[in-house]
Amino acid sequence: MTSQKASARAHTNIALIKYWGKKDQQLILPMNGSLSLTLDHFYTDTMVEFNSAFTEDTFYLNQKKFDATKVSPFLDLVRQLNPQAGYAHVISKNHVPNAAGLASSASAFAALALAASTAAGLKLSRRDLSRLARRGSGSATRSIYGGFVEWLPGTSDQDSYAVPIDEKVDWDIEMLAIIIDRKQKKVSSREGMQRVVATSPFYPAWVKSTNTDLIAAVKAVKQHNLKLLGQLAESNALRMHALNLSARPPFSYFEPQSLVAMNIIEKLRSQGVCCYYTLDAGPNVKVICSTAESRQIISALSAAFAPEQIIEAFPGPGAKLIEC
Ligand code: DP6
Repeated sequence: MTSQKASARAHTNIALIKYWGKKDQQLILPMNGSLSLTLDHFYTDTMVEFNSAFTEDTFYLNQKKFDATKVSPFLDLVRQLNPQAGYAHVISKNHVPNAAGLASSASAFAALALAASTAAGLKLSRRDLSRLARRGSGSATRSIYGGFVEWLPGTSDQDSYAVPIDEKVDWDIEMLAIIIDRKQKKVSSREGMQRVVATSPFYPAWVKSTNTDLIAAVKAVKQHNLKLLGQLAESNALRMHALNLSARPPFSYFEPQSLVAMNIIEKLRSQGVCCYYTLDAGPNVKVICSTAESRQIISALSAAFAPEQIIEAFPGPGAKLIEC
């Protein structure tokens, strides 16, 4: 019997310029490039053991057994790279405060890519890890790296991967996550983005304007320009959500409380505070701001949200191996 184990930790990331549509469903190639910030606060730890005595894959998440079909197609990709690797046991734990509805496929598949490839005896470069993580979930492509990360869309499996833009963030930027709903999404991101690509008449304009936003946002990161980055991120997020409203049938991730949070941020801004919001495939609002102003923003948000609904997160590291 041969057995090989490895454990990895990967952090989640929030896109400032969004990925919202695929040009290849199977390879998970995005229609446009995207830019994200990896966060310290939310992460997944995953242990993978390949063992020649195992007769099937098994998968535990937060100490609960799940159907292995959630991980087996991904493990098959690792087995293609090392056909000696047999079945695997996968044990994952999401470290997300109070099941905050921010558990993300990004940290999950980035941690699984690193743990599974290492346990299978492969020593993949970070570029190849990013390509592998991409096959699990698009946003996982970016969670291999820390700090600000760009996903180059590419045209094939070979050239669609993430690159670090500013890995060790040494300027004043953070995110406040406002937890509005902990429930499952009504429309999954996979389904939502497929629907907008197929039915929104505005989709070509999204791709074109996002490509322009991305170039400007990468420059803003390099210049440490929080205001410009925030403006670009907020407007890009609103365009993504406008696509959803323009799909057939239409859908929206906004809840009344999302709009309350957005209004508070807009009002603070009119008073001269540098803060901007973004939303992903769910109602939670994330605020981009500086630590210098975060107390003031939290205090304004406290008029409408309980303290446990507001979580402060800072730039976080890339995926790494941890003790089994
Ligand atoms: C709104 O990466 O979850 O968060 O590739 O189908 O697994 P799949 O989708 P996923 O979509 C993330 C969408 C987003 C924007 C982003 O992270 O760029």
